Amino acid sequence: MNAHLQAWDIAVEDFPADGFAADQLEFLLGYAILAPSIHNTQPWLFRLHTTDVEVFADPRRSLPVVDPYGRQRTLSCGAALLNLRVASEYFGHAYQLETFPDPAQAHLLARLHLGLRCETGSEDVLLFQAIPERRTSREPFRPEPLSPEVSQALEAAAEAEGAWLHLVRDDEGRNALADLVAEADLLQWSDKQFREELATWVRLNPEQQRDGIPLPQLGVRNWLTSMAPLLIRTFNRGAGQAAKDREIAQYSPALAVLGTAADTPAAWLAAGQALEHVLLRARCEDLSASFLNQPIEVFGLRDAVRAVTGREGFPQVLLRLGRGPAVIPTPRRSVREVLLHHQGNHAK
Ligand SMILES: Cc1cc2nc3c(=O)[nH]c(=O)nc-3n(C[C@H](O)[C@H](O)[C@H](O)COP(=O)(O)O)c2cc1C
Repeated sequence: MNAHLQAWDIAVEDFPADGFAADQLEFLLGYAILAPSIHNTQPWLFRLHTTDVEVFADPRRSLPVVDPYGRQRTLSCGAALLNLRVASEYFGHAYQLETFPDPAQAHLLARLHLGLRCETGSEDVLLFQAIPERRTSREPFRPEPLSPEVSQALEAAAEAEGAWLHLVRDDEGRNALADLVAEADLLQWSDKQFREELATWVRLNPEQQRDGIPLPQLGVRNWLTSMAPLLIRTFNRGAGQAAKDREIAQYSPALAVLGTAADTPAAWLAAGQALEHVLLRARCEDLSASFLNQPIEVFGLRDAVRAVTGREGFPQVLLRLGRGPAVIPTPRRSVREVLLHHQGNHAK
């Protein structure tokens, strides 16, 4: 596999079963970094100790325009944390988890202490096996509805992490959300700073950088490919994006809003773990997913998303779910590059 995709080639046989806990934790981080992250910023850093690992948000990888409070950065780190937990269990280790263990260190999100060996449940094995298979797929999905059993399993996955998942399958709700996505697209694309930030993270040559969104994954194959970042930066193609996203939302078998009761960093971290739990569970059911978060990102539209669900609380992510074609993975940096004390990485 090419170097920029090498992280996906992780093999269970390489787990250092007889090694030190710190070596085992370093190996487990190989699963954490396969998590999804906003714009594939991979905004996480980890510090290894003898028997525990600390998970930090990396403020250098912030997106001040689309994510001014770091909400989606924390969600992304939460997704990595869920992978770390699932991998710990798979390799037969109980763990203790402390979230926000030191108020003096705002970017320290969690500390996971690797404990004694424990039994691995069948659910853990399935979730674990889904980690390297999960992808964000922006392709169209086949119009097969989700069964009630699958829907319930996805809702339970979110609830297990202290969040809720509201599935929207009726035409009225789907159309209402599709309208909100299109409205948000128009607003975001009319903002030059939004376009500039997005262009910074789009990759023309993904094999040369280990982060960011490769152009084909963004579904812009029909553009003048080599000029795409320049075009994103320069032109407001909000109307085109809105029309495309409205259609993709309307024709998805299911849309799903993941939400939490509160809107604090602790709730965002829980939401990130819930997001990844839902995505892995979806993968186990051969479902693909992609994100239509725009109306949650735009001030003023988030409450309209909540109103469609009829739930109390705060929408954190808007997903579309369905069955579709296989897609290739996106690049990842190596575990070494996201360890604190690696050259250039310092805790803030
Ligand atoms: C919190 C969060 C928000 C995201 N928002 C969007 C989004 O609005 N639109 C989108 O196309 N992808 C979105 N993504 C997906 C990322 O672009 C994707 O995870 C990243 O490119 C890595 O690719 P992968 O998921 O296939 O591993 C989001 C991911 C996360 C975790």
